[in-house]
Amino acid sequence: MKSAYGLKIPEPDSSLTRVGPGTPCGELMRRYWQPVCLSADLQELPKAVRILGEDLIAFRDGAGRAGLLFPRCSHRGTSLEYGRVEQRGLRCCYHGWLFDVEGRCLDQPCEPDGGQIVMEVWPAAAM
Ligand code: FES
Repeated sequence: MKSAYGLKIPEPDSSLTRVGPGTPCGELMRRYWQPVCLSADLQELPKAVRILGEDLIAFRDGAGRAGLLFPRCSHRGTSLEYGRVEQRGLRCCYHGWLFDVEGRCLDQPCEPDGGQIVMEVWPAAAM
């Protein structure tokens, strides 16, 4: 196949076109702010977004802070897309763990003693 000028079409340069985690261009792009969604899209429901080859969950907590989290709850892997936005963060719909905009687990209501390991759980915040 040739271009409109009769030149051979070059193969895509994967060092420039691949942007997933661990790729050269992906690591470069992750060093800069990226637009993820419109601020107006972050209302009472979390929003699934895909950027740089990664699926993530965007939300705005009750205090107005924006968060971007790995889409799976760090407890049993339930999708945080179905979570409930609360004042302090996003609560998982399955067992109710609460994650703040930084991805810190703030509450584990179903765990013994209120969750002794609350501060040790991080769901891999995307920001
Ligand atoms: S799967 Fe999210 S709290 Fe259990």
